[in-house]
Amino acid sequence: MTLDRDRIRDDFDRLAAFDHAGWSHNSHYHPYLLRHLPNRPKTALDVGCGTGVFSHLLATRCEHVTGIDLSGEMIRLARERSVGIQNIHYEQADVLDYLQPSRTFEVIASIATLHHLSLETILPRLREALQPGGVLLVLDLYTPENRPDLFLSGLTGMIASSFYQRWHQVPSPSAAESAAWDAHGAHDVYPRLSQMRQVCATYLPGARVRKHLLWRYSLTWRKPA
Ligand SMILES: C[S@@+](CC[C@H](N)C(=O)[O-])C[C@H]1O[C@@H](n2cnc3c(N)ncnc32)[C@H](O)[C@@H]1O
Repeated sequence: MTLDRDRIRDDFDRLAAFDHAGWSHNSHYHPYLLRHLPNRPKTALDVGCGTGVFSHLLATRCEHVTGIDLSGEMIRLARERSVGIQNIHYEQADVLDYLQPSRTFEVIASIATLHHLSLETILPRLREALQPGGVLLVLDLYTPENRPDLFLSGLTGMIASSFYQRWHQVPSPSAAESAAWDAHGAHDVYPRLSQMRQVCATYLPGARVRKHLLWRYSLTWRKPA
């Protein structure tokens, strides 16, 4: 394990304590991602599953779901919250160790996780792990291209975010939660969409990279059959 992985794992072990069910900037896009699923897939992998919120949704549509996460605390909570759900299995693992040639999936999903990895390393590994005709679904954060983009996406995102937070009655984070996210965020680096499109052209030709309002992009790709 590299030092960076240790730090990321420790950050999320700490952040797990603040996890709350309900609306979030990520869950807002769950219905969008689910619309891209193939019909009744047999196997799905949720990379960086956290407490398993999206794994639960996948489990209503896929025969079997595996959720993996670097953080033991996240996996502990995911297991606790999935008691009685027979078709989800969780494992604490680094995705780069977990992906083996013998492990292939019809669907691979990953939410707010890929920015912790090198895109040049993880995208070809995910491509290999997808079965022919399988679908990759990614949601993650991006860095604006330039100052006008920063201003515009910052402003429109802020207006939309405060509307949705009120609408869904999201409680304000405690000082301890904000401090833990700030400490983690200090190390986070998000790709620009132009960079994302460039890497996709190399590793996932034909992938669709779409910019969304709440400071996120989605990447959808179907592996040729
Ligand atoms: C921001 S959280 C998102 C969790 C969940 N996908 C969600 O939408 O709520 C990112 C998660 O990715 C996990 N993670 C980061 N790097 C990872 C890696 N190399 N392998 C597996 N999980 C990883 C973290 O432990 C963390 O739980």
